[in-house]
Amino acid sequence: MNYNKKTVKDMDVKGKKVLLRCDFNVPMAKDGSGVITDDKRIRAALPTIQYLLDQGAAVIACSHMGKPKGEVKPELSLKPVAVRLAQLLGKEVIMAEDVVGPDAQAKAAALQPGQIMLLENTRFEKGETKNDPELAKAMASMADLYVSDAFGAVHRAHASTAGVADYLPAVSGFLIQKELEVIGGALANPKRPLVAILGGSKVSSKIGVINNLLEIADTIIIGGGMAYTFSAAQGGKVGDSLLEADWEEYANDMVKKAQEKGVKLLLPVDTVCADAFAPDAKSQVVAAGEIPDGWQGLDIGPATIKLYCDAVADAGTVIWNGPMGVFEFPAFAKGTEAVAEALSKTSAITIIGGGDSAAAVQQLGYADKMTHISTGGGASLEFMEGKELPGVACLLDK
Ligand code: 3PG
Repeated sequence: MNYNKKTVKDMDVKGKKVLLRCDFNVPMAKDGSGVITDDKRIRAALPTIQYLLDQGAAVIACSHMGKPKGEVKPELSLKPVAVRLAQLLGKEVIMAEDVVGPDAQAKAAALQPGQIMLLENTRFEKGETKNDPELAKAMASMADLYVSDAFGAVHRAHASTAGVADYLPAVSGFLIQKELEVIGGALANPKRPLVAILGGSKVSSKIGVINNLLEIADTIIIGGGMAYTFSAAQGGKVGDSLLEADWEEYANDMVKKAQEKGVKLLLPVDTVCADAFAPDAKSQVVAAGEIPDGWQGLDIGPATIKLYCDAVADAGTVIWNGPMGVFEFPAFAKGTEAVAEALSKTSAITIIGGGDSAAAVQQLGYADKMTHISTGGGASLEFMEGKELPGVACLLDK
């Protein structure tokens, strides 16, 4: 896929109406109070919004939120996002009552250069996730130009992320441009050695990434729950740990493939295991593959921490996706904390995939020490799998 896409800077936006797809799918407080608990994605869209407004464009912003499945669900309204966006921009954000209905159409028609409005949740429309051309056409009809800055949603071929580009000239905003440059650069032409740290619970969700990175990386480090499938595949005892027995053969194939390709594949040498899946469970450190019956591995052990941190220390580039253990439980967060700290100290280019690892780095206060923290969870994963991203493929090439 060609990542060299036109950006807002390649277009004359003055006096134009710009349909700007953002990823405002932000976490909200569970009590229905409309409080946004993390506004990182809104902040990440500000440079493009501010640029467009400064250049004299009229901005029609849009985004999905959650999975309302084509129904209007008030708890998934983007109204709280409009309020937060207005605070951050220091100017009014006109909120539409619908996506392509009469209110959105009228407000878009009246929008003046330098003004911004926000459409309602694009997934309130049934056609959104089906990439319905009629919906895409209706959204496009309100604007002269389409700008996508929704990196978190570029892996979705939806009407607002891809379909609309059939009806308008389509370019990227600064956020997508940065994600493509940093992650794309690390995959295409990394400063070596390239070390990939892969964690999380399931091998099955990381197959594509492991496969692709085996072609690119110098070292692959495996942690988190998926390490137990590798351990069991090698004949280790994993007790009650997370195990995907169906994926053991695949795990062994990966170990073999790494050997053939000369890629260092590091697996845990010890494990912190617990007598229950609970924050206050009794715990002990055992050698990898020697987890007693009735116990389950919840974190990497101290010897593994040293092994993994040493591998990061002299890396040229580190890509990290997925925690090393159950970091929501402080007693089992040491592996994830140690890796985050090692990344904060290395001189390597450090790229954190979105989702859990991004949350861990932020929670631990290392965010500003990383080269790049992706705003995309699924999107950054699919990018690292080498898959085509529909929301990027639809943009004009440079
Ligand atoms: C995300 O949160 O990863 C993006 O906003 C995409 O959301 P989705 O998985 O509901 O498409």
